[in-house]
Order: sequence, then C-alpha cells, then structure tokens
Amino acid sequence: MARYEAVRARTEALIASLDAEDMVVQSMPDASPAKWHLAHTTWFFETFLLGPNVPGYQVFDADFGYLFNSYYEAVGPRHPRPLRGLLTRPSVAQVMAYRHHVDTHMRAFLQDQPPAELEALLHLGFAHEEQHQELLVMDMQHLFAQSPLKPAVDPAWPSQAPGPAGRFRRVGGGPVRIGAVDEPFAFDNEGPRHTVWLEPFEIADRLVTNGQWLAFMALGGYRRADLWLSDGWAQRQEEGWEAPLYWRREDDVWSHMTPGGWRPVDPDAAVSHISYYEAEAFARWAGARLPVEAEWEHAVRTRTDLDQVADVAWQWTASAYSPYPGFRATDDAVGEYNGKFMSGQMVLRGGASVTPPHHARPSYRNFYRPGQRWMFAGLRLARDVG
Ligand code: AVJ
Ligand code: FE
Repeated sequence: MARYEAVRARTEALIASLDAEDMVVQSMPDASPAKWHLAHTTWFFETFLLGPNVPGYQVFDADFGYLFNSYYEAVGPRHPRPLRGLLTRPSVAQVMAYRHHVDTHMRAFLQDQPPAELEALLHLGFAHEEQHQELLVMDMQHLFAQSPLKPAVDPAWPSQAPGPAGRFRRVGGGPVRIGAVDEPFAFDNEGPRHTVWLEPFEIADRLVTNGQWLAFMALGGYRRADLWLSDGWAQRQEEGWEAPLYWRREDDVWSHMTPGGWRPVDPDAAVSHISYYEAEAFARWAGARLPVEAEWEHAVRTRTDLDQVADVAWQWTASAYSPYPGFRATDDAVGEYNGKFMSGQMVLRGGASVTPPHHARPSYRNFYRPGQRWMFAGLRLARDVG
C-alpha cells in the first residue's frame, strides 16, 4: 500500500508545475503527452490488476482501453501512437478523476491482502509507472525545448555535479555471472542469470564529459565519415547533427535544454542526449570502444571505484537488445512488456538524473533504437588489454 501511494504521488508531483495545455501536446511520434502518461499508467493497474481480480469491477470509461493501451496486442486495438497529441479529450481533469477512481479501487484491493501470486504483477505496475515518470520528464523536456518562451519542467532541477575526467580501470576476464539475482523486483528481460566469458578489459571510472565531447566536435567528429557506422552517418547527414540533441551555440557559448530549462553546458559534467551512433563514433575517435553489457555489469558488480553507475546518464553498450539464454516471455498479455521489442535496439545500462530513485539496478537493461537521442544517454569507454 505504501509503495502504491508513493509511486502514484511521485507522478503527480512531477506535473505539479504544469498547466493543462502543457499536458496535451505531443512534440514528436516517440514522445507522448503528459496527460497520456497519467492515464496509461492508470490503465495498466485497471487492466491487469483490478479487472481480472476484483469481482464486479466496472471500468471508469469503456473508451479508455482504446485510448490508453500502449502496445498490448492481447488486450485489443489501440489509438495510433503518433496521434496521441490530437486527443484534446478526455480532459486533464477527467484523466485526474480516472486516476482517483483507480486509486480508490486499488486501495480497497490492497487493503484486502491480495493473493501472494499477484505480488510480481503489482511490482511490475509500480516499476511501470516509474518508467513512465522518466518518460514524462523526457517528453516534457522535448516539448519545452521547442518553445521560444524557454519554459522548464522543474526550474529547481539540480545541475549535475562536475567531476574529473575518467580513468581506465582494469578488470580481469574469465567466466562471469550476469543477470538479476536476489532482487526484490527485476524485469523479465534481466534474466535468466547465466555465465558469459569475458576477456580481460579496461573500463572508464567516469562517463565521457561535455568537455571531451567539445574536443570531439572541434576536431571534426561530426564531419569525418570514417569514424561513423554507415546507418549513423546517413542519419547524421539527414538530420544535420553537429552536436548532441538540445545543444545550442550563441556567441560561442554552448547551452542545452535540461529539466531545469536552458542552462550552460558544463564541460566537467557527463555528456547526454547522444545516439548510439554518436557514442560509437566518439569511442572510435578516442581509440577505445563501448563496453558490452556483460563487461559493464561485471565491472560495476566487482569494482567499487566506478562512480556514477546511476544518477547521471544511461550508458550505451555495444550489445544488441536480445534475449538472454533461456529467456522466455510469459504467454499472457504482460509477456508483451519487454520480450517483443528484442530486435533493432541496443542495451543501455546505469540510470539517469531523471530515473526515479532506486528504480534501476546493476542488472537493469534499458533499450532504445540506435538513432534515438531524447533519452538521457551518454557513454562510458572501454578498451581491450594486452
Ligand atoms: C524500456 C524505456 C524502452 O519506453 O517503451 C514503458 C519502458 N515499457 N511501458 C518504453 C516502458 C512499458 C520502455 N523503455
Ligand atoms: Fe507503458
């Protein structure tokens, strides 16, 4: 009950300074309006917890399944994702009433000691709403970055702490175990725990900084096709990339959009809002490479001198988002949660300043397509030894 209340309250705290108009607009197909996030997370509890388990439960509105189902084929047809921003109705007030309706029923449901076999599904609902809290901030930041009025999602958002440049740390190779172990909750894609063979390697104890990124830019990193993967170079040409997403230069001073609004780029803070292609090109330029996910996980589990595992930016890895050996998604609707996205995406590890506290863990596998940039993604370098 306490966990449910906390996660629902945190979502509502995130929108406290937004007006209804802010919450309706969709700035690109990958983003969703804040109102949609508020409703979709509610729909998840209604559809997967209340509907099947509370005898006689009446849905708040029979049309909401069509509007707020994200991608669950087993649940039924859906409103097309790129058109979410055209939904002026239901109003924000109606969506908040939906939240309160579902909260009332969830409280009654939780009060009655739900059966133990529903615990995993409940925790999935909490982790799901936390993922959408991060998406909500990403999406609002993207929307506000389009505004000449320079609004901020949260003007009090703390700036990232600066730090020294990273140093390489050596990690021994051999058979290592990776995957979730003894976690109170983990997503299905974090298992099964299994053995991976690693050669010895080195991994940086810090993320690549904005200052290092400025050097890459100054030395032609965005102009040298030889540094780039072909798909990345094509996207760079098509979209005219010259810097990370959200970077703007005025009178030779770089600033970038953050949840706290437009702020100067701090050369000693970690770079963020780069695609896999940019991260990979930077690593090649630096005479290094991206770590594979097993290297990343093994390093953070065994070395205490790697800082900023969470709380800065997700870190691109060189690993395709594929199932671990023996992975099998459940054959119910929530089996669609992670498994069906295992093609064409890369794994990111760590966590970001916008990730809810305690949401991520060493086995956490985030995933995005290699050209996406609006998430808080940076990189940690690795290299071969010997
Ligand atoms: C893991 C962030 C890629 O955005 O689709 C939200 C999270 N899963 N609802 C996504 C998610 C179901 C997911 N990412
Ligand atoms: Fe979702």
